[in-house]
Amino acid sequence: MAAGAVEAEPLVTGYERFHVKASSPEAGGSLYSELGCANCHYHGPGLPERSGPVLAGIKDRANGEWLAAFLDAPQQSKAGTMMPALFEGLPDTEKAAQIESVVHYLMSLKPVGKAAKPKVGKHANAERGSARYHQVGCVACHAPTPDFHPAAGAPKPEDFSSRPVPFPDLKAKYSLLSLAAFLGNPGPVRPDGRMPDLGLSEEDSLDIASHLLDFRESDPREAAALAPFTVNGELAQKGAAVAARLNCVACHRLTAEDRPVAVEIKQREQPVGCLSGTPAANRPLYELSEDQRAALVAYVKLPEPPAFTAAQRTDLTLQAMNCPCVPRSRWMAWAVRMPRVIASSRGTRASPPPGGWPRCSKRIGRKLRPEWMTGVSRGPHRARPYVLTRMPKYPTQAEGLTKLLTGDGSREPSGDGHRRSGGLAPTRRRPRGHELHHLPPVGDKPSSAFRRSTSAT
Ligand code: HEC
Ligand code: HEC
Ligand code: HEC
Repeated sequence: MAAGAVEAEPLVTGYERFHVKASSPEAGGSLYSELGCANCHYHGPGLPERSGPVLAGIKDRANGEWLAAFLDAPQQSKAGTMMPALFEGLPDTEKAAQIESVVHYLMSLKPVGKAAKPKVGKHANAERGSARYHQVGCVACHAPTPDFHPAAGAPKPEDFSSRPVPFPDLKAKYSLLSLAAFLGNPGPVRPDGRMPDLGLSEEDSLDIASHLLDFRESDPREAAALAPFTVNGELAQKGAAVAARLNCVACHRLTAEDRPVAVEIKQREQPVGCLSGTPAANRPLYELSEDQRAALVAYVKLPEPPAFTAAQRTDLTLQAMNCPCVPRSRWMAWAVRMPRVIASSRGTRASPPPGGWPRCSKRIGRKLRPEWMTGVSRGPHRARPYVLTRMPKYPTQAEGLTKLLTGDGSREPSGDGHRRSGGLAPTRRRPRGHELHHLPPVGDKPSSAFRRSTSAT
């Protein structure tokens, strides 16, 4: 892991933007929750659960060959991914056999619940997709694509300090239609809301997918479908046993009867187990940077449950959810450092900006009624429909976020033994929107890895 470790470390955006190089328990808490440690070991800081994608029905979304390559070396397949490697420390043949069987098992999984037939547009337009990709807000988190020409005077890539959220080799993973379907409705696949629903129309999803896959035709039926995959029942059965032993269900939805197993951490003083850098065979291997490891060690040492204040949990939650919500006075500082923000943020109701970014109101918890706020997070209330950039939707987290922002949190923190409770941290009963803004200045701790990753799309 020594060589290339920096490039391969998992990218946790909340940590990367606000805590990088800090080895505080708070930085560690953010990593512990976002890297899914809390999904196996509990003892979490009470942030909204960070899960992996739903794997039931993955055969309709991804190519089997891509799955095998990803499981073999997640960080090589998608630099910055938060999924740990789970097949390390084995002899090569055993590793290959385990992965092959798990892929057959995954490709045999049926969707859980009724699968709505995804709606995608009839005509693809990659050029329009490029424009929409750079307007609607994708580039708040992901990197702009090479055909993006920022307005004169806009910041250059060297001016940014946070690493963009990576993409895998999208052409190897998705078909045009499966990518468009995902973009149009990411919630059922990635229910933790870290990749939010931007309320794209059928046309937008197809056009953006065409842009990302560089599909230049106009008839989507001419695009390559997912490669056919024939499941071998015997291998699939073996794979089911491997997946159960490795506790994949701690992070993923596989079937209707998932049973995650809790693993107790007894040794809290030393960086052992998953923190050692060389875990035992078939244990999670995270290619952590030294700073990330130090922060996690500082967090794991805390007595249980970790005594974070409500304000700390609020900040950590907003950072984890990637809320680009900052006071107006800091707006410019943030905008300059946001991964290549949208060309211009000026505009009026009468003359909409090319892609203006809406600002957060100061003391939002005092200003907005809770029902309205929940509506905004859930989707139906588009407060500023004339702004091209979209407010992401967080249907599953909407109520919890409102409670957090208005101070009406009545539930106990989740994450310390109550997985899937969906609860957010409790907060004191008073409006406290202004505390949202006690965020550390952005960019004072520039990412160690950013410069090395600018070539990633
Ligand atoms: C608020 C930040 C944010 C915004 C805005 C956002 N994404 Fe994402 N996106 C993420 C994160 C984080 C992930 C990875 C989620 C995970 O690890 O489960 C992701 C994942 C994805 C993936 C899946 C990659 C894979 O590995 O299969 C695609 C495709 C994607 N985003 C495209 C888009 C597009 C297109 C837009 C704009 C319409 C967009 N995203 C807007 C944060 C964002
Ligand atoms: C600590 C939590 C965690 C564990 C344990 C885990 N995964 Fe993941 N997995 C993730 C995350 C997070 C992602 C999303 C990564 C990304 O998009 O960069 C992911 C992505 C995946 C994907 C790609 C899915 C997609 O839709 O793009 C597959 C396949 C997968 N995991 C399989 C497995 C298998 C099989 C196991 C057990 C051997 C497993 N995972 C264990 C967290 C986990
Ligand atoms: C897929 C489940 C899973 C995930 C995710 C996971 N671990 Fe582990 N962890 C284990 C297992 C299994 C062991 C070994 C327990 C044993 O051998 O008794 C372990 C051991 C440990 C130990 C040593 C415990 C002891 O007392 O010996 C520590 C510390 C640890 N993990 C920390 C972490 C951290 C930090 C993360 C996130 C970066 C993490 N783990 C993610 C399953 C997981």
